[in-house]
Amino acid sequence: MKTRTFEKLGIQTSLLGFGCMRFPTLENGKIDEKQAEAMLDKAIAAGVNYIDTAYPYHGGESETFVGKVLKKYQRNQFFLATKLPVWKISHKDEVLPIFEEQLAKLQVEYVDFYLLHALDEERWDALVKQGVLDVLDQLKAEGKIKYIGFSFHDEYPVFEKIITARAWDFCQIQYNYVDTEIQAGNKGYVLAEKLGIPMVIMEPIKGGNLASLPEDIARFFKAYYPKKSLSSWALRWVGSHKNVKVILSGMSTMDHVLDNLDTFTNFKALNQEEYDLVHKVTDIIKSRTKNGCTGCEYCMPCPHGVNIPRNFKIWNDWAIYRNDDQARRRYFKDLEVDARADMCQACGACEPQCPQSIQIIQDLIRVHEDMKTIQ
Ligand SMILES: NC(=O)c1ccc[n+]([C@@H]2O[C@H](COP(=O)([O-])OP(=O)(O)OC[C@H]3O[C@@H](n4cnc5c(N)ncnc54)[C@H](OP(=O)(O)O)[C@@H]3O)[C@@H](O)[C@H]2O)c1
Ligand code: SF4
Ligand code: SF4
Repeated sequence: MKTRTFEKLGIQTSLLGFGCMRFPTLENGKIDEKQAEAMLDKAIAAGVNYIDTAYPYHGGESETFVGKVLKKYQRNQFFLATKLPVWKISHKDEVLPIFEEQLAKLQVEYVDFYLLHALDEERWDALVKQGVLDVLDQLKAEGKIKYIGFSFHDEYPVFEKIITARAWDFCQIQYNYVDTEIQAGNKGYVLAEKLGIPMVIMEPIKGGNLASLPEDIARFFKAYYPKKSLSSWALRWVGSHKNVKVILSGMSTMDHVLDNLDTFTNFKALNQEEYDLVHKVTDIIKSRTKNGCTGCEYCMPCPHGVNIPRNFKIWNDWAIYRNDDQARRRYFKDLEVDARADMCQACGACEPQCPQSIQIIQDLIRVHEDMKTIQ
């Protein structure tokens, strides 16, 4: 198993981390514990020693399940990461009861990596004002937290603001060969490296999108290595960055586990020719994008309830990855009817706010027309 050293923290972890957000589930939606335990055991036996869970995963059941499985291992055999559900905190006194609940669910005395979960600017400003970091620093002083970090979902300037606000032990960002110019992206990677802050990466396969590319794109990778999975290219691209210490993969089948163990047991950084191929694929993927919506939400809220960025995200992903099933579910099931593109009243309030000069009204009509073709 490929390992990386957190020089700042003086520890070594496996480069592959187990993301505990996407365990296999039963028909009733509960974790398929037998299968999920076999997957975790397999990964740990092969040298995976970084396990990432969080308070809300699997409707709150992920921490409990992970705690049960890890009970059979020595505490120093694994690094456990979990996160403070910052959206539940309105006063710093609310931190401790949640943290203690997490320790109890996980059946441990301490957490190795503790993150402020899914920070954006609004959440960060609120936490600072409430003094939440003081509570975490106290828990660290007591040995109940080893390392304090944050996971991030906002634009680069906010990342810069947060990462330079204190001497973080580590940080976690979304990063993959397509998502280099959104959220923290390449600029965030470079800044963290410059500051000497080790990075943990989430969504390295773009939540599964890069594992199921359409055939006309996948053929470039398949021609190069017929037997290697598309996921292995995405994971190797991320792992080719030296300041990436852990890559979290949300493995949801034993096949995913075995495939990733193969990638990380014989890990090789990309060579120049392979980089060039990944860039070629990235260019094709980006050329299929319908519009340049960055999800900045400057156009929001729409007075008529349309979730403009969400509609554009579903539409762009559909155009790029050609995954009809996923788009149908996201547009017709997951998105509330009132927030759908066809609810636009063409009032015009949004368009002047868009920094990308997107013709929002026109594009929302196109979104709905395209989605109707796959209904
Ligand atoms: N802190 C945060 O804000 C935050 C946010 C997101 C994620 N995370 C953490 O980061 C972890 C990783 O993110 P992610 O789950 O989105 O990662 P990901 O690795 O980008 O996506 C995982 C999905 O990719 C598909 N897949 C296909 N082949 C695979 C293979 N060989 N290995 C793994 N997956 C394969 C699976 O989807 P199908 O089953 O559909 O094929 C799987 O559910 C999460 O599990 C979670 O622990 C944290
Ligand atoms: S033009 Fe449509 S999407 Fe834009 S604000 Fe008005 S109703 Fe909302
Ligand atoms: S303002 Fe423009 S780029 Fe930003 S979310 Fe709205 S449509 Fe997308």
